[in-house]
Amino acid sequence: MRLAIFCSGNGSNFQAIVDSLKAKDIPATVVLMLTDQPGAFALKRAKQEGIKSVAVERKNFKNKEDFEAEIIRQLEQENIGLICLAGYMRLVGPGLIRKYPGKILNIHPALLPAFKGTRAIKDAWDYGAKVTGVSVHFVDKEMDHGPIILQQAVEIKDNDTEQSLAERIHQVEHKLYPRAVKLFVAGKLKIAGRKVIIC
Ligand code: GRF
Repeated sequence: MRLAIFCSGNGSNFQAIVDSLKAKDIPATVVLMLTDQPGAFALKRAKQEGIKSVAVERKNFKNKEDFEAEIIRQLEQENIGLICLAGYMRLVGPGLIRKYPGKILNIHPALLPAFKGTRAIKDAWDYGAKVTGVSVHFVDKEMDHGPIILQQAVEIKDNDTEQSLAERIHQVEHKLYPRAVKLFVAGKLKIAGRKVIIC
């Protein structure tokens, strides 16, 4: 299976997925890193790994439909079977979702449906939550909303700082996302309404 990973920034989850798929017995390869930010560090990571990358900037298109039509063109060129959003800071539009039904995953640094949005770690920290975590889910047209594949809790300790919490969350992400990708690639995920059955 040919994978595309969408990133807007650092790309540490991109790296974790790429690294985890290097084992020869997994029939999946990351063949494309797509970003909306031409300055994203993920571009350097893709280059380092010898993976094709492309920057598609929203400002170069007159509307979201045209922007996503170009993204779809890039995906079709590479015959992509799974899209992983990994720190991609945009809401995926209906055209792209229709084109890849049940084939787009996202990772979120909180236990959904708590702390949706782009500042989830800070929001859980500011709220004074005792537990937060990581969710990997299928993408639907609402932000941070689709059926949940895997979740893992992360305790917020009394001696944590926002920074130390973020580090532990990222460590969990780098294990959980590859696990979800491998389950998808192995055909073990079945969506039944809001539930994802792992078979
Ligand atoms: C991660 O915390 C992810 O959960 C969120 O954005 C962050 C991306 O980090 N959606 P990176 O770019 O993968 O390092």
